[in-house]
Amino acid sequence: MPRLIVISNRLPLGDAPSGGLVVALEEALTASGGLWIGSYGIAKAPAPALTKHPGANFERATFDLTEAEHEGYYLGYANSVLWPICHGRADLIEIQPDHLDTYRAVNARVARLTAEILEPDDIIWVQDYHFLPLATELRKLGARNHIGFFLHIPFPSPQDLATLPNAAEVLNWLADFTLIGLQTNRDVFNLRDCTRQLTDAEDVEDGLIHLGHRTLNVAAFPIGIDVAAFTKDARNADPDDRIRFLTGAALMIGVDRLDYSKGLPQRFRAFGQLLEDHEELHEKIAFLQIAPPTRGEMQAYQDIREETEHLAGRINGRFAALNWTPIRYIHRAIPREVLAGLFAQARIGLVTPLADGMNLVAKEYVAAQDPSDPGVLILSRFAGAAEEMEAALQINPHDAYETSEAIATALKMPLEERQQRHTALLEAITKHDVKWWSRTFLEALANTA
Ligand code: G6P
Repeated sequence: MPRLIVISNRLPLGDAPSGGLVVALEEALTASGGLWIGSYGIAKAPAPALTKHPGANFERATFDLTEAEHEGYYLGYANSVLWPICHGRADLIEIQPDHLDTYRAVNARVARLTAEILEPDDIIWVQDYHFLPLATELRKLGARNHIGFFLHIPFPSPQDLATLPNAAEVLNWLADFTLIGLQTNRDVFNLRDCTRQLTDAEDVEDGLIHLGHRTLNVAAFPIGIDVAAFTKDARNADPDDRIRFLTGAALMIGVDRLDYSKGLPQRFRAFGQLLEDHEELHEKIAFLQIAPPTRGEMQAYQDIREETEHLAGRINGRFAALNWTPIRYIHRAIPREVLAGLFAQARIGLVTPLADGMNLVAKEYVAAQDPSDPGVLILSRFAGAAEEMEAALQINPHDAYETSEAIATALKMPLEERQQRHTALLEAITKHDVKWWSRTFLEALANTA
């Protein structure tokens, strides 16, 4: 069997995973074995070769970044240009030509480090927006391997992609991959629209886009979770973690990296609206928002932190009683096993991003529910998960009235309807679980010429 080499920017070495990507890759690589290459740490002078870290199920190999590379490649082009445009926030982009140069240079270096250990029949699977030019760089070095690419975040609309200084170049980078995987059909449509509008792409047919004399192979492969493992974690959760919130009020939970794409201010305002309109729900609902910090060096992230803290304080100040705090806002990471127990006891899971590639919290919340008395998932129409999770209460996160009424509806929802919705959701997340995702993508990659 050919060796699988996965390349992603973020690679956890025993530390708490951050975001859906690393959780999914841990699970996929544990099933298939192989080598996971990723960045780890900042060094004055980067090591000349990959550093190997042997492991039980698969091997890891890391490269480090200089301070300037971290700034230009990670904070700069990846997270101040690509991330905002892919999440519909072109207003936040900060274009600096030297950041794009650094992004290209880091990709060229990662390609060189990978080429040094590459065997002719290795299968390479590149993850996410940090490495759009990686196949181009590997091809320049003579790699003829199958190279797959998966984008975990939304593919931008043509209007947003057009705000890049190098939109056509990005599409040409993609053409050097053997296969491009996106989360949803909506993303596939966006990629097609982008090539139609921003390049001289001639014709577009099912899954194939002709870009000059080259072809882009693209399809949707919605990412999933290990349903059985998460359900088990939820059942086995430490009773201490489960009873801590049993105050008599129904628990509503949100868990999101503190990112402007997650719609936290809109969510807090919707909760405030609920308390405003439904006095009968005071002391009957307790909202727990867990928001681990992320990319805290960047202004946009400092701004969102300030805004959410301000809103939570204002809502609590206005509505709290001596024995009731409406919002508990925790700004740090909580272990996944503890989250599983909290999801299990939460009457409502609130997943309301303004834009999101998939959102695995939505799937974890469903997996954690007790089928005989399940809670209700409230899900933004703009999460990739909405395409498969039609049985959730879907809302427009920009509309505080619609969201707050959905919360009131969820609290009142009869058992039978909760069970029907939960059965349908569980079926959807079980059909497309994480093993399905990696197997289907890798099979399609192997079968693409
Ligand atoms: C999203 C991205 C991942 C990223 C994660 C955490 O899930 O798709 O590529 O790793 O966010 O962000 P960070 O910048 O901390 O790696």
